Amino acid sequence: MLTRKAAYRVAVVGATGAVGAEMIEVLEERKFPVENLLPLASVRSAGGTVSFRGQEIPVRILSKDSFEGIDIALFSAGSDVSREFAPLAAKAGAVVIDNSAAWRMEPDVPLVVPEVNRSDVFSHKGIIANPNCSTIQMVVALKPLHDQARIKRIVVTTFQSVSGTGKEAMDELMEETRALLSFKEAKPKVYPYQIAFNCLPHIDEFLPSGYTKEEMKLLNETRKIMGDPSIRVTATTVRVPVYVGHSEAINIETERKLTANEARAILSTAPGVQLYDDPQRKIYPMPLDVAGRDEVYVGRIREDESIPNGLNLWVVADNLRKGAALNAVQIAECLIQ
Ligand SMILES: NC(=O)c1ccc[n+]([C@@H]2O[C@H](COP(=O)([O-])OP(=O)(O)OC[C@H]3O[C@@H](n4cnc5c(N)ncnc54)[C@H](OP(=O)(O)O)[C@@H]3O)[C@@H](O)[C@H]2O)c1
Repeated sequence: MLTRKAAYRVAVVGATGAVGAEMIEVLEERKFPVENLLPLASVRSAGGTVSFRGQEIPVRILSKDSFEGIDIALFSAGSDVSREFAPLAAKAGAVVIDNSAAWRMEPDVPLVVPEVNRSDVFSHKGIIANPNCSTIQMVVALKPLHDQARIKRIVVTTFQSVSGTGKEAMDELMEETRALLSFKEAKPKVYPYQIAFNCLPHIDEFLPSGYTKEEMKLLNETRKIMGDPSIRVTATTVRVPVYVGHSEAINIETERKLTANEARAILSTAPGVQLYDDPQRKIYPMPLDVAGRDEVYVGRIREDESIPNGLNLWVVADNLRKGAALNAVQIAECLIQ
């Protein structure tokens, strides 16, 4: 358990990555009470620094002794690092908030989106998991509708930006675009195919069922966060050539009928949601507008006329912020409040 203090010693594991850098920015922006910041990364970052509150702080190389005296450890360096080092950090007395998929489905590890299941934070045993980016934005938008009308089934298709794969993937999109516009060949390294000017219906590994692991995360994590194992979810996840911001086309079937206007009224006051829905005035959320923002934007709310109790929604959020760094810092805020 975290002892109440005026300020905390915070480690960021993966501090030089796409999510880690955003975490440091969010800690500063939200004036999280940080006594000391310890940025950790691999040997590749040796000698580097990160900026925090106007200071350049040296990046340290992650080791098993990194967590002595640390109160809160924010992890975003991939599942292998989390599996190895999160238990060591917890043993050293830190509360770990982990962005990877390593611990999310462990029964004694809370999986938390503060707008949805804030109280689960307090049942932690040293590790709290941050859900997958595509799950976070979906549950923030759907939980208020579930509370009113009980969602029975979700059909979701995602349009996920390259920043969801990390900084190398962002460079790859830039390099491929430059090459192709100069009549040169694209040379994919991070993705199996060219991502510039293309869409890849393939995120994370394929399973024998034909689904990808990313698609199964949307099913399993949604049930765990919403605390309702009866919700049926089916997903198709697609990588698109967008830098930041995941979009989702979501169809839900509810037990009780919700009109589009009722859904709009519910979502207009829902925590963490920004309703952006006036198609006659061409108002609907797009990743270009939502990148850098904290809220989950919802638009294109329509009744599904093919079933009695169905709705369609278009949901967009910044995957590096609400989908990762912001949600992790909000969990830390719950811990210290
Ligand atoms: N991007 C997203 O939208 C998103 C959303 C939710 C969750 N996540 C999760 O967050 C994690 C990081 O994602 P990212 O997008 O930030 O990736 P990234 O840009 O590739 O950054 C990876 C970070 O991890 C560090 N790292 C890698 N191997 C390490 C090791 N052996 N020891 C210490 N540090 C190591 C890297 O350090 P160096 O710079 O030294 O290599 C870098 O700081 C992943 O688990 C990912 O699934 C990402």
